Amino acid sequence: MSLDSLGQFIAALDAAGELVRVRQPVRAKLELAELADRAMKSPGGGPALLFEHVLLDDGTRSAYPVAINLFGSVRRMTMALGAGDLDEIGARITDLLQMQVPEGFIAKLSLLPKLLEVGKFPPRVHGGKPACQEIVWKGDEIDLRRLPVITCWPKDGGPYITLPMVISKDPKRGTRNIGMYRVQVMGKDRLAMHWQRHKVGAAHWREMAERGETMPVCIAIGADPASVYSGSAPLPPTVDEFLFAGFLRKKPVALAKAVSCDLEVPAEAEIVIEGVIDPREPLVTEGPFGDHTGFYSLADLYPSVKVTAVTMRKDPVYATTIVGRPPMEDYYLGNATERIFLPLLKLTVPEIVDYHMPAEGIFHNLVFVSIDKQYPGQAYKVMNALWGAGLMSLAKMLVVVDKWVNVRDPQEAWWVALNNIDPERDARFSMGPVDVLDHSSRTFTYGSKIGFDATQKWAEEGFAREWPEVIVMDEATKRRMDAVWAQLGIGGKGP
Ligand SMILES: Cc1cc2nc3c(=O)[nH]c(=O)nc-3n(C[C@H](O)[C@H](O)[C@H](O)COP(=O)(O)O)c2cc1C
Repeated sequence: MSLDSLGQFIAALDAAGELVRVRQPVRAKLELAELADRAMKSPGGGPALLFEHVLLDDGTRSAYPVAINLFGSVRRMTMALGAGDLDEIGARITDLLQMQVPEGFIAKLSLLPKLLEVGKFPPRVHGGKPACQEIVWKGDEIDLRRLPVITCWPKDGGPYITLPMVISKDPKRGTRNIGMYRVQVMGKDRLAMHWQRHKVGAAHWREMAERGETMPVCIAIGADPASVYSGSAPLPPTVDEFLFAGFLRKKPVALAKAVSCDLEVPAEAEIVIEGVIDPREPLVTEGPFGDHTGFYSLADLYPSVKVTAVTMRKDPVYATTIVGRPPMEDYYLGNATERIFLPLLKLTVPEIVDYHMPAEGIFHNLVFVSIDKQYPGQAYKVMNALWGAGLMSLAKMLVVVDKWVNVRDPQEAWWVALNNIDPERDARFSMGPVDVLDHSSRTFTYGSKIGFDATQKWAEEGFAREWPEVIVMDEATKRRMDAVWAQLGIGGKGP
């Protein structure tokens, strides 16, 4: 059954014992984040939380409850996407791809919209009054301070909308983009939009600003969970995230016309903030913000959004998240992307068996990759391919191992990699774009990367010594000892 709204997702989580309701009064400023952080740091990601009594910054009670950590476990992530497990979605994509595809990464990615259309799940615009517009604030009614927007960390520049779907349109091609970009509340009708320079929303804005055109933008909060997730997925600019969400949930996403601009928004959204960015207005200082690196991102200049309308359901739930020192909820959103996008990576780099971005590497800092090595130097071929593939180009450290290594277990991956490398021989530096959030690079968004060839070295690669075997107990001894293990009372790791 596909989930059509945040309310349905919350009800499903509740029924599955995945949700804890908090009835005590909790402040939107810091207190809610402190409790959410403790939940997220619990084994397996802790439960989803629904705060029913939230205190706004002026001390009054929020009219809207706050949901957090909705996506913060493997189980909840699979429930959100209506899949048995995340690799099942990857397998559906593989099936779609079992056809002749053009050469080259970009050509292959550009095929993606067509492939998704094959699935017959394009979003549909409905007439009539959508649920997300049951209540409309316009003009003087607009006051973002009535929403329970949380302040996450003590040194943050202010309250932040942290789990939005930011909707914009490419002014040239008309293609839609949905990005999960944090948005700082700057006043009753003002926001600062933190889309980083490598992201699609920022590209739309640069184009609009070059033309001197005012840019409409909508910020939807809470919708069907597949759409919320899709905002965080690194799809190519030509792919509409609502089409992708339709593919994921096997049902089109219902859209509605925004009330104050020419954009479509999810009809089932809880809350939608509509606005415009005027390129004649100066940029505003956004931040600092306690980021998913575990450090504060410095304040910087970003575009200011003037809010033109706020629409919502009669009883909306405000959905949010916090980022900070890992692991946090965003690890599970990123993990879903990792699993779902594996077949697409394999399409262009077929020797990839698996890859994994462990939580402590916060996605761009560390990627383990296992490959089916067939010829000398192949590990370097894979590194170069990954550093040329979409947002993977931001990866700071790539560690390439042989196919038998389970890269989803970082302890195993490090154990093998650290044994297999001769540092001087097997490490290579490269240069390129680096993540906006990398505070160590020599200049903003530009710096070095390192790749480790931690595969077994071949004679053709100049390795003249004998490579040793991995230690494994023989099967016969194992079976004999399995039979006696339980009687010995040793405990610990049994058969
Ligand atoms: C919780 C969360 C918060 C995020 N915040 C931002 C942000 O503030 N700015 C940004 O550029 N990307 C942010 N991202 C990453 C983007 O959502 C991600 O790169 C996505 O692919 C961007 O969409 P796009 O490819 O359509 O630009 C965040 C991701 C998550 C999961």
